[in-house]
Amino acid sequence: MDKMTQLLGWVDDRFPLTKMWKEHLSEYYAPKNFNFWYFFGSLALLVLVIQILTGIFLTMNYKPDAEMAFASVEYIMRDVPGGWLIRYMHSTGASMFFVVVYLHMFRALLYGSYRGPRELLWIFGMFIYLALMAEAFFGYLLPWGQMSYWGAQVIVNLFNAIPVIGPDLSVWIRGDYVISDATLNRFFAFHVIAIPFVLAGLVVAHILALHEVGSNNPDGIEIKKNKDPVTHIPLDGIPFHPYYTVKDIVGVAVFLIIFFAIVFFAPEMGGYFIEDNNFLPADPFKTPPHIAPVWYFTPFYAILRAVPSFAGTQVWGVIAMGAAVVVLFFLPWLDKGKVKSIRYRGPIFKYALTAFIISFVGLGWLGVQPATPLYTKFAQFLSLVYFAFFFLMPWFTKLDNAKCKPEPERVTG
Ligand code: HEM
Repeated sequence: MDKMTQLLGWVDDRFPLTKMWKEHLSEYYAPKNFNFWYFFGSLALLVLVIQILTGIFLTMNYKPDAEMAFASVEYIMRDVPGGWLIRYMHSTGASMFFVVVYLHMFRALLYGSYRGPRELLWIFGMFIYLALMAEAFFGYLLPWGQMSYWGAQVIVNLFNAIPVIGPDLSVWIRGDYVISDATLNRFFAFHVIAIPFVLAGLVVAHILALHEVGSNNPDGIEIKKNKDPVTHIPLDGIPFHPYYTVKDIVGVAVFLIIFFAIVFFAPEMGGYFIEDNNFLPADPFKTPPHIAPVWYFTPFYAILRAVPSFAGTQVWGVIAMGAAVVVLFFLPWLDKGKVKSIRYRGPIFKYALTAFIISFVGLGWLGVQPATPLYTKFAQFLSLVYFAFFFLMPWFTKLDNAKCKPEPERVTG
């Protein structure tokens, strides 16, 4: 026995290293027909690592102090060696995280990956999504620019709409009557330690849940139904390592080319990744003329603005905005289709999904536009389409069942 094998044996007697390697990599059998849409889980992991690593280095020079925060970011950009690269990787990473996660979630809609037995995997995913939104919101205050300040002001003020406790609650959240140094300090604590901890824990739970039930695939059929009688290995499964590790490296390479093209050539992305107003230091006495959240929040922001305020309270808008996110948790139980994958669904589901995507993208666009009466009408219409997709789903998926195509016995292509 060579030294390495001996060492491995020593570790294995004390820690399940080889056992875990086999269970999660070399003997985790994934369907052989993964396609483009299956790149985004591993890419989300990659972006998580990029965010944590660049975040650690940013923290070394950033000052969570209302007097110094803005200047400390400028210092990172101009004076810290490589600081500009680290900062732009982190700001670009934030937006790319949402690009990747939205595509990852869309895949679940395409192939019914949220359906049984993967409900809990989906629910962990939804909690990740919530944590990610909180992480992005807290992080956005830290550069202490005009948009950081006023964006946080608008969002925290939404809590005022809650009856009875609202105003006290928003003071409690801010730690002051306006967004201030106290707010910056607590947002820093949440952004740098509390939420990342939760996020990392949820990602582990997400992957454990995935490996417990096994991956879905573009055909939406269970590979565990057809196992080799002797080895009990799914006939349509291939070991994750080396087959999918190699495939994922291709995805990582393409992703990094796009990622660094943005970092080097368009880190602000025309004001979508870093808003123009955030190059001005926060000024509590000067409200920017046009406050809009970063693009990944805009569909929900458009829903918030689409609901008119009744009797001077925005509470219904806030409820609608919250409901737009929460409703996603219930997808596994709203979908009554007898097949999972879009490949075998009938036309009704395909139309409904197309309408949903148009509503989501349309609302996202409207969320960055000024709320003119015409745009508000559009936003109201698209909000109805958005909610109709979920609330009518039990009905239209049942109707669609009559037009479904038969699923194949074994995975195709
Ligand atoms: C930090 C964020 C996330 C990470 C690192 C992550 C990671 C992963 C990985 C590595 C996989 C397996 C590879 C793949 O199927 O692409 C996966 C599968 C899955 N994820 Fe995520 N995920 C994240 C967020 C989410 C969110 C927000 C949702 C939905 C709300 C979600 C829902 C799913 C589902 C349903 C699957 C199974 C897909 C299938 O087998 O067809 N994930 N995730």
